[in-house]
Amino acid sequence: MTERDDAGWDYRSVAPDWVSPDVDLRTDVAHSARVYDYVLGGKDNFPADRAAAGEFVKSLPNLSTSMRANRNFMVRTARVLAAKHGIRQFLDIGTGLPTAPNLHEVAQKVAPESRIVYVDNDPIVLVHARALLTSTPEGRTAYLDADLHNPEGILESEQLRETLDLSQPVAVSLIAIVHFIADDTVVQDLIDRIMRPLPAGSVLALSTTTADSAPEEVHAGEAAYKANGIPLIARDKSTVERFFHEMELLDPGVVLVHHWHPDDEAAALDDAHVYMYGGVARKP
Ligand SMILES: C[S@@+](CC[C@H](N)C(=O)[O-])C[C@H]1O[C@@H](n2cnc3c(N)ncnc32)[C@H](O)[C@@H]1O
Repeated sequence: MTERDDAGWDYRSVAPDWVSPDVDLRTDVAHSARVYDYVLGGKDNFPADRAAAGEFVKSLPNLSTSMRANRNFMVRTARVLAAKHGIRQFLDIGTGLPTAPNLHEVAQKVAPESRIVYVDNDPIVLVHARALLTSTPEGRTAYLDADLHNPEGILESEQLRETLDLSQPVAVSLIAIVHFIADDTVVQDLIDRIMRPLPAGSVLALSTTTADSAPEEVHAGEAAYKANGIPLIARDKSTVERFFHEMELLDPGVVLVHHWHPDDEAAALDDAHVYMYGGVARKP
């Protein structure tokens, strides 16, 4: 099968050396990273992703507004953590396809020496990882093809150890990823296994789907995602707050993502159009 996306890329011909020819890119089925890319207006998606996105939007008419609000939450958290909390190291798990601005561009604009490790388990994100490796000379970025379900493998990887100093605080971001894990206890265990080895002053920034703001739409959306082979779980506020249980939530706590340190664009959004909670907490 030719694996071409809208931009005319043949994935096999552009795949960097580090992508094994045995990796099956499965462009014939919808994938969360590519659906997200499509809804955000990107080009790295395939007919199956676009068909699925069309189904999701029938249930979730404000999906693109919500996804954009989520992406902008990532941008604001990175900026605030770099500018106001002095964070210089970032571990972004569930990075997604490169979308301007990427996290390292935000952090390095504030502090060029910032170091960022990106992690995703989608081979198509891996193919595009070069766009994430455009660090400033003073800083550094690395990409790791790995799974959130293996926190020890991430923390012990060569790429991470060569990039981050784990004796210094790290901001971990889990942005729009834990809603693909149905079991709350599994999510909690993974968060704890990532955060416990990190030093005091480390931070967790997390966003995840909720039905609190638009219950009918989001419950229908969950069913549409599942029907397309993508398990998606909406969570209420107290469940999301519990994920930060061993940490101190920074102001304003867990809120719909557009309420977290809003800029003008975020402040103008309607709550019913945003299906994501977000929060940032600091390890004492
Ligand atoms: C909806 S996208 C979010 C992208 C980005 N964090 C953002 O919010 O703009 C979710 C990403 O998480 C990745 N992902 C899902 N489950 C994962 C897992 N278990 N381990 C690593 N990455 C995962 C997907 O491949 C996808 O790129």
